[in-house]
Amino acid sequence: MPSSPLPPARPACPSVLVTGGAKRLGREIALALAASGWRVAVHYRDSVEDAARTVAECSALAPGAASFRANLGNEVAVRHLLPSVVEEFGNLDAVVNSASTFEHDNAATFGFAAMEKHLRANTGAAILLAQSLHTHIDERNRALPEMALGAPCSGVVVNMLDQKLWNQNPDFFSYTLSKAALEAATTMLALALSPLVRVVGVAPGLTITSHMLSDDKFAALHKLSPLGRSSTPGDVAATVRFAMENQSITGTTLLVDGGQHLMRFERDFSLM
Ligand SMILES: NC(=O)c1ccc[n+]([C@@H]2O[C@H](COP(=O)([O-])OP(=O)(O)OC[C@H]3O[C@@H](n4cnc5c(N)ncnc54)[C@H](OP(=O)(O)O)[C@@H]3O)[C@@H](O)[C@H]2O)c1
Repeated sequence: MPSSPLPPARPACPSVLVTGGAKRLGREIALALAASGWRVAVHYRDSVEDAARTVAECSALAPGAASFRANLGNEVAVRHLLPSVVEEFGNLDAVVNSASTFEHDNAATFGFAAMEKHLRANTGAAILLAQSLHTHIDERNRALPEMALGAPCSGVVVNMLDQKLWNQNPDFFSYTLSKAALEAATTMLALALSPLVRVVGVAPGLTITSHMLSDDKFAALHKLSPLGRSSTPGDVAATVRFAMENQSITGTTLLVDGGQHLMRFERDFSLM
């Protein structure tokens, strides 16, 4: 019996919006996707020069990358972001929500201002971008002629989470709360936006150092895992790409952390 044709693994010239794509993990993800043929929209807020450099490097791998500026704490700016990418690119197939506000607070210093700041940028913006992508994909399919051949187009959203959701400590209270909400949103969106848009979480372990850690301290903490190494930027970017290109994954989170989520840490890495 002839097997029914499967939908294409991805469009011929797929395009993706990577938030926080100018530097650090977002940049690594942008470059890995460009190397795989994705046209990349690099979102940034303050890192103008880094964004220009990432765009140039992405364009050398897959033509047509461009940068887009937005403060993800501002709802109007977030609602404008995806349509402005579509205006320039024509279409958009995917969003990687990598941008993240990461400011310290704890149970003693917690307040609505910090909570709102993190929830807006890390949770609300990611949900609005998923909503926007679904609307765009739906409109693209409605515009197809009724007798169009082939599968309808579909999209994917990857939400960057954190292994610390599975290994909690009370540091970075509002940040953790915002990522926990995003993890719940990943499940709800996967249900609400199916079958047109898949939604997947990717949760790195300690991957890139911060201004709060010396290089020696970072190297020591990176080894603190059952595998003796946490994730590298390349591991995380490869997992994001896998989640985007595998057509059967939705509503779940891939932990890329050398098993750090299986351990118990009393404090956040940056305060250990
Ligand atoms: N790095 C790690 O080891 C690690 C570990 C676990 C999880 N993660 C997750 O992986 C993702 C990437 O990590 P990262 O370390 O690369 O992130 P990051 O350096 O903390 O932040 C990435 C970018 O987010 C943007 N951003 C922050 N607040 C914003 C706002 N209100 N509006 C618009 N942009 C905003 C900034 O862009 P501009 O510079 O342009 O302002 C920043 O460069 C994050 O979601 C993080 O939670 C990372």
